[in-house]
Amino acid sequence: MRSSCDRLTPGSCSLPYNRAMSFPVQRMRRLRRSEPLRALVRETSIEPGDLIYPLFVCPGEGVRTPVGSMPGVFNLSVDEAVREAEEAAALGIGGLLVFGLPAAKDAQGTGAWAEDGIVQQALRALKASPAAKKLVLIADVCLCEYTSHGHCGVIAQSGDGPDASFDVANDPTLELLARTAVSQARAGADVVAPSDMMDGRVAAIRKALDAAGCAETPILSYASKFASAFYGPFREAADSAPQFGDRRSYQMDGANLREAMREIALDLDEGADMILMKPAMPYLDVVRAARERVDAPLGAYQVSGEYSMLHAAFERGWLDPNRTMIESLVGIRRAGADFIVTYFAKDAARLLR
Ligand code: PBG
Repeated sequence: MRSSCDRLTPGSCSLPYNRAMSFPVQRMRRLRRSEPLRALVRETSIEPGDLIYPLFVCPGEGVRTPVGSMPGVFNLSVDEAVREAEEAAALGIGGLLVFGLPAAKDAQGTGAWAEDGIVQQALRALKASPAAKKLVLIADVCLCEYTSHGHCGVIAQSGDGPDASFDVANDPTLELLARTAVSQARAGADVVAPSDMMDGRVAAIRKALDAAGCAETPILSYASKFASAFYGPFREAADSAPQFGDRRSYQMDGANLREAMREIALDLDEGADMILMKPAMPYLDVVRAARERVDAPLGAYQVSGEYSMLHAAFERGWLDPNRTMIESLVGIRRAGADFIVTYFAKDAARLLR
C-alpha cells in the first residue's frame, strides 16, 4: 500500500517499496486498454432496475400533453399512464413515482386524499395492469399539486392588515398528509413517499398507515430535500408553483450538509424505511455523506432542472445525449445512491439493457 506521503510529495519517501510502485512499474493505463478490461475493473454499476420513472397523471382520456420545459415528459391521462407503465416494465425499470394533477384545487388540497382522486385512480389502474407485477408503485405524498396556493401544507395567517404574514402550518398539515398516504396505500401504492418537509410527517404517516391496516406499506422519505431552483420545470409539469412566497420555510437551505444528516436521522427514527435525497447533481457530497452514515436504502432524485438543463445542451448539440445522461447517472450511483429517480429512466434503460 502507498503511504500518504508518497502521494503528497512524490519521491520523498525513503522506502524502496513505495518507489517500486510508481512509474514506470506502475502504469494505470494498462487496465484501460480494452472495453472488457475496463468492464472488469469498473467500480460502479447501474441497471434499469435501479431507476424510478416519474409520471404526471392528469384527468381525461387519451391525453398526452407535452411539458414545455422537459422534452420527452408528458402529462398523461390514466389510460396513457398505464401504457407508459407497460413500456417501463418491459424495459426493466425498477418502479414509478406517481404525481397527480387534479381537476380542481382548494385551500386544503382535498384532492390529495379523495377516494376518486387522480393519483388514486391512476394507482388502481396501474395495479390492475400486468406491468404492476414488475414495478414498484411509489406515490408522492404532498399537497402542493392540490392546493390553490401551491404550498405543501395548509396556510396559517398571523397578524392582521398590513402586518399579516402567512406561513405553512406544520402540525395541522400532518393529518392531511397522513390521510393522503393512507388513501394512496389503499388505492394500490406499494410505497408512499412524503416530499412535503413538514416536521413529524413520517411518524404521523406511519401511525395512520398502521391504524388503517397498512402496516406493511413502506415509507420512502424525502428526508433531505433542499429548497432548490432546480425544481423549476417540475412546477410546470405538476402545476404546483407557490402562488406567493417560496418554500424556504420548510425545505432545507442548500448550504447545509449537517442539517441534512439530522433530517435523515430524525426520519429514520420516526420510521422511514428508505431515504430519498434531492436534488442530486448539485448535492452529491450530501449523498456521499448520507451513504457513509446510513445503512437504510438510499435513493437520489435527479430533479427536473437537472434533466432540463442537460436537454437544453443536447438540443444545441453541445453535449452528447447518451454519454452525458449515463455519466450523470453513474455519478449519482458512485456518490452512494442505491436507486435514482430520473426522467431519463426509459432512455437510460434502453442503453443499459
Ligand atoms: C412536491 C415535489 C416537488 C418535487 C418533487 N415533489 C416540487 C417542489 O418541492 O417544489 C420536485 C421534483 C423535480 O423537480 O423533478 N413537493
